Amino acid sequence: MNTLIEKAKAAQKNSYSPYSKFKVGAAVTGNSGAIYTGCNVENASYGLTLCAERVAIFNAISSGESSITEIAITCTGNNTDDNPSTLMPCGSCRQVMTEFCEDDTIIHIDGLGITTLKVLLPKPFKL
Ligand code: THU
Repeated sequence: MNTLIEKAKAAQKNSYSPYSKFKVGAAVTGNSGAIYTGCNVENASYGLTLCAERVAIFNAISSGESSITEIAITCTGNNTDDNPSTLMPCGSCRQVMTEFCEDDTIIHIDGLGITTLKVLLPKPFKL
């Protein structure tokens, strides 16, 4: 898991976040064992911004993975020290994780520790 956090930190360096100054990096392990990374990519039209977690997951899936077995997230920004909630993945990313992860998939949140998808999103929407 330390490797995954290190990969997330490396991806965080590529964060394009001129508007929020909130730099996020994510790394995920695909079912093949390969690791994929992502960072947040913002846009002048703010709503077009993509979160690091979804960039990493879509990177894995578009590279041929069919599921995600582990996730690591790291971020630094305005008030992460005062407010640990800013370290958490957003609701949209939790829903996307649900599509490709198991309930007990480990999610390592840098600075907070380890949790599972079931804890973060106990009652997801599923078809
Ligand atoms: N952000 C992420 O990359 N992941 C999350 O789970 C929450 C928010 C990004 C989006 C935006 O670039 C910045 O953090 C502030 O919302």
